[in-house]
Amino acid sequence: MFKLTLKYPIYTLDNQLLFPPGTLLTKEMLDAVINSHMPYSYQTHPLLSHGSVKKDCLNFLSTPPYVTIFLDKKEVNDLLNLLETVHLSIPILQSLDYFRQHDFYTYDHVLMVFALSTLLAKDLIPDYQECIQLSATGPTHDIGKICVPLFILKKTTPLTRTEQGFIEHHAGAGYVLLGYYYKDTQHLACKVALDHHERRDSSGYPRGIPLKDPLVEIIAVSDIYDALIKPRPYRSTAYDNRAALEEITEMAEQKKIGWDVVRALIAHNRKSKPHFRDTKISAEKRGTPPSYNVYGIIAEEEEKDPKD
Ligand SMILES: [Fe+2]
Ligand SMILES: [Fe+2]
Repeated sequence: MFKLTLKYPIYTLDNQLLFPPGTLLTKEMLDAVINSHMPYSYQTHPLLSHGSVKKDCLNFLSTPPYVTIFLDKKEVNDLLNLLETVHLSIPILQSLDYFRQHDFYTYDHVLMVFALSTLLAKDLIPDYQECIQLSATGPTHDIGKICVPLFILKKTTPLTRTEQGFIEHHAGAGYVLLGYYYKDTQHLACKVALDHHERRDSSGYPRGIPLKDPLVEIIAVSDIYDALIKPRPYRSTAYDNRAALEEITEMAEQKKIGWDVVRALIAHNRKSKPHFRDTKISAEKRGTPPSYNVYGIIAEEEEKDPKD
């Protein structure tokens, strides 16, 4: 039976509290909130014609290493044609506006996870077009970050355990928010938001369950790759492409993620564009990870001044 402890509150962008901190969430509780709060459906709008999304996407796609991954112009056109068919509800589009304005990294990240995961899904998921159109999981997978304070998302020094917990809260928050907006907790986008930080060996979060679903795994790998190849608040220098691919290869060696999705990612990074099944991966590690990186380092909690 589905249960998730929410350590922190879940609220919408217009500050409607859906669940207070400490809630032991069940599917029945979420269904009750969905039914009581939302007698109508939200209007939808095409994603690519929202604000500057299309222009920003094209701009992000033209920067390395995406310019190599999306080298084939026909492939880019096919991708854009498919993305043109994706419609999202107004509050979900407003979350993109929020990230564009307040946390540009997350805005760029969710769009590129969308583009890359769509390309990988083309190789790995038989009915990928329908799957992408219906679920549009790239732009929504991190929507729960609207429930994480911006100062934590942008912190450049090690996080405390409380702050790390807040970051991890975004997975469950995304599940709740998307269930609420789609009025359907079984929607594929909800599953992706909840499980995209899970790993095959159960070492992920929030539930520590085995990562099994092929689409969730594609989003998970696109998510890790995009995070590595860009500067982040906790690591001002990006991984170079080789070091990023080696990190991901190592995760497959440790059985955290599957080999097919890693092969597909590496195949698209090669100019010769081999089929992913014919792509050989070297076990040699020659990349150089950035020297300054406080990711995973836990800071002491700050002591509260008793006068506060
Ligand atoms: Fe995430
Ligand atoms: Fe992400």
